[in-house]
Amino acid sequence: MSAYLEVSGLNKRFGGLQALNDTNFRIDQGRITCLVGPNGAGKTTIFNVITGFLKPDTGHVAFRGQSLDGHTPQQIVRRGIARTFQNLRLFTDLTARDNVLAAIAAQFGESPLGAIFRPFHTAREQARRTAEAMATLEHVGLADRAGEYVRNLSYGEQKLLCIARVLATGAELLLLDEPASGLSAGALDNVMTLLRRLQSDGKSLLVVEHNTRVVQRIADEVLFLHQGHLMAQGTAEAIVADPKLAEIYFGGAI
Ligand SMILES: Nc1ncnc2c1ncn2[C@@H]1O[C@H](COP(=O)(O)OP(=O)(O)OP(=O)(O)O)[C@@H](O)[C@H]1O
Ligand SMILES: [Mg+2]
Repeated sequence: MSAYLEVSGLNKRFGGLQALNDTNFRIDQGRITCLVGPNGAGKTTIFNVITGFLKPDTGHVAFRGQSLDGHTPQQIVRRGIARTFQNLRLFTDLTARDNVLAAIAAQFGESPLGAIFRPFHTAREQARRTAEAMATLEHVGLADRAGEYVRNLSYGEQKLLCIARVLATGAELLLLDEPASGLSAGALDNVMTLLRRLQSDGKSLLVVEHNTRVVQRIADEVLFLHQGHLMAQGTAEAIVADPKLAEIYFGGAI
């Protein structure tokens, strides 16, 4: 049986640096898989390759048994995979609601800003999308902040908005790049609860995360990446208890 998501033989070199080095893994549908590893291990690069933002030098990505090789980011979103960015990439001078509307537009192959400013949507279509955006904001707990400019949102709220944006694409596999980093304890709890709720809704999640406690709380499975290579795959308990991995993680660059 084909894997839900399968990454095979990925290599990616940036000048003299081998960012991905024969990376291979599979993930299962319906699970929360955490991708961990020291700074510079290649985690974001893997997200960039899976979502079509970077072309690997060699290797393949397949989703539900079908190749994604050569697909554009937009085609990949339409196939059902959406991602957040480590540096958020929100439209800070737009409202939370318009940021979600821009992501809804991605489903229709429209440019994000055109979706907000374009006059040719019928009033009915615009109303439908606005209702969908509001429902998505409600789902992540931001309904009361819908009309607020992003630059006025707290960092925790901005992180939730990033998740709202991936949900708004309608994707079934969500790739979240450090959704919990930089959050206060309360905001961290909110995000963990939300991720579990998304799983109950039927989403599959691949989550880059540095916080070991978060990984232990949410991960059904953990992938440990080091120097672009998958060193280990297993439960959070097994990964955390492995002294060799701990040495790489804490004794290395960080
Ligand atoms: N576009 C790029 N050009 C040159 N080097 C890059 C580029 N993108 C990533 N790298 C390098 O590739 C390596 C892997 O980077 P990547 O961002 O994937 O790491 P990461 O595991 O996400 O790290 P972090 O935990 O710090 O986010 C790093 O050494 C990084 O400097
Ligand atoms: Mg990264």
